[in-house]
Amino acid sequence: MSTEDKIKELRDRKDAARAGGGEDNIRKQHDKGKLTARERLDILLDPESFVELDPFVVHRITDFGMDARRSPGDGVVTGHGAIDGRLTYVFSHDFTVLGGSLGEMFAKKVVKVMDMATKVGAPIVGLNDSGGARIQEGVVSLGGYADIFYRNVRASGVVPQISVILGPAAGGAVYSPALTDFVIMVGKTSYMFVTGPDVVKAVTGEDVSLQELGGAATHNERSGVAHFAAENEDEALYTVRRLLSFLPANNMEDPPVLDTGDPPDRKDADLTAVVPDDPEKPYDMRDVILKLVDAGDFLEVQEQWAKNIVVGFARMDGHPVGVIGNQPQVLAGTLDIDSSVKAARFIRFCDCFNIPLLTLVDVPGFLPGTAQEFGGIIRNGAKLLYAYSEATVPKVTVITRKAYGGAYDVMCSKHIGGDYNVAWPTAELAVMGPEGAVEIIFRREIAAAKDPVARGRELVAEYKEKFANPYVAAEVGYLDDVIEPQDTRPYVVRALQTLLDKREATPLRKHGNIPL
Ligand code: HXC
Repeated sequence: MSTEDKIKELRDRKDAARAGGGEDNIRKQHDKGKLTARERLDILLDPESFVELDPFVVHRITDFGMDARRSPGDGVVTGHGAIDGRLTYVFSHDFTVLGGSLGEMFAKKVVKVMDMATKVGAPIVGLNDSGGARIQEGVVSLGGYADIFYRNVRASGVVPQISVILGPAAGGAVYSPALTDFVIMVGKTSYMFVTGPDVVKAVTGEDVSLQELGGAATHNERSGVAHFAAENEDEALYTVRRLLSFLPANNMEDPPVLDTGDPPDRKDADLTAVVPDDPEKPYDMRDVILKLVDAGDFLEVQEQWAKNIVVGFARMDGHPVGVIGNQPQVLAGTLDIDSSVKAARFIRFCDCFNIPLLTLVDVPGFLPGTAQEFGGIIRNGAKLLYAYSEATVPKVTVITRKAYGGAYDVMCSKHIGGDYNVAWPTAELAVMGPEGAVEIIFRREIAAAKDPVARGRELVAEYKEKFANPYVAAEVGYLDDVIEPQDTRPYVVRALQTLLDKREATPLRKHGNIPL
């Protein structure tokens, strides 16, 4: 064979790999409203940046007529490319080949890119669209999954890991995305569940559709499994790019700094009007966030779940920050099980990847009720306390209004390592709200009064005068200062600048024991 013939053979082989499961299966994929594995990578990565690995890998089984069903690449496209010019490792399930099902060699390909990404310190993005364990390969497929799970855990906190769900993710296969940092789901075409509708029906008698059981809406609004919901695949892949723009490539790097053009000393007089005069009236904490951060650019994470707390990424003077804010508009901004878990996981992610935390506090306490107590609010609220306490990244806290009870301590107070803690003049820091407090400590006095209602009112007013302000805490240094709302952005930017080189040592240990 001449060299030219050999080159032709190479090209033919590569063409065969690029063809995936063939025209018919590609048409079926498109008819389902889905793109192919390679089309997705074209959208995700910078043009011409993709470098493929292992295009010739094939499976090794012969049973069930599988020797006649070998496709070069074996159902997954892997390699690396660039996102905004930054190295990113990728794998993209090819549903057109045996339903994107995972066997021994498929798993080896995924493991290879995960190992490479972890070694060189680059993010891993997985595009998932798979029928799960390749049934014909039996236990070997299960081994392949476990090899991947193990790498997910080894890479956790070393490089960012993002999963995009663009089709089925069923059975144990869901656990690789679940172990990654962020899960993005596409409406209508993606679903995730441990056991599907048929098994659910057989075991519990419940009738539930595929989408209701494990669609994007379910996992974004109810279970908290997903972090982002996208209308279509383009939006999902764009979300990956946007998310990565806030993140360093690995835990040894600082997050990327962008020139956002927003002056660091910009004051915003509109902030004065955000907190209503009536302390019982809600407002949208996102209004505060949007006014504070660079160019009003905020990427909210888990926007549709546990809405009583808002978390997401933004920039202050070009530097990425993780923002956590109680949301007075939902459940009065109380902390409950879901909001504690949501914020705790977000904080731990930021701490892994050197992203400072900006906490905006307006919290009347923990949500009371048997559902919360029986559900373990003690154990789950402790996660948030733990996450804030263990985080060594710069921590800046602004109390806009209420900071009551244990929730005051939990929301990045000075005592658990807040580096800069300030409050607006509208802040109220106390063990509990005035009405509740007066009822407890003055019960007898109120009962004995000639006019108990009037006496109660008087005592509430006295209590407010004494405690419902930021100055008692400022007098003992729990607050570093009380600032005008309009000065918040310049204050926070300066605080974060002073903390750029913050170093905080923690005691030597294998790892802590977060109350899971
Ligand atoms: C082998 C599979 C497969 C699988 C799909 N295919 N899933 N081959 N192993 N797990 C093949 C089909 O035989 C078909 O081949 C092609 O992929 C496309 O599948 P369709 O069924 O035609 O597609 P669609 O109608 O879109 O349905 C998709 C599906 C369905 C819902 C995913 O294929 C399905 O239910 N598959 C089985 C899912 C499953 O139970 N997997 C195991 C889960 S448990 P042809 O030849 O017709 O083109 C699991 C455990 C992991 O994964 C444990 C980890 C610890």
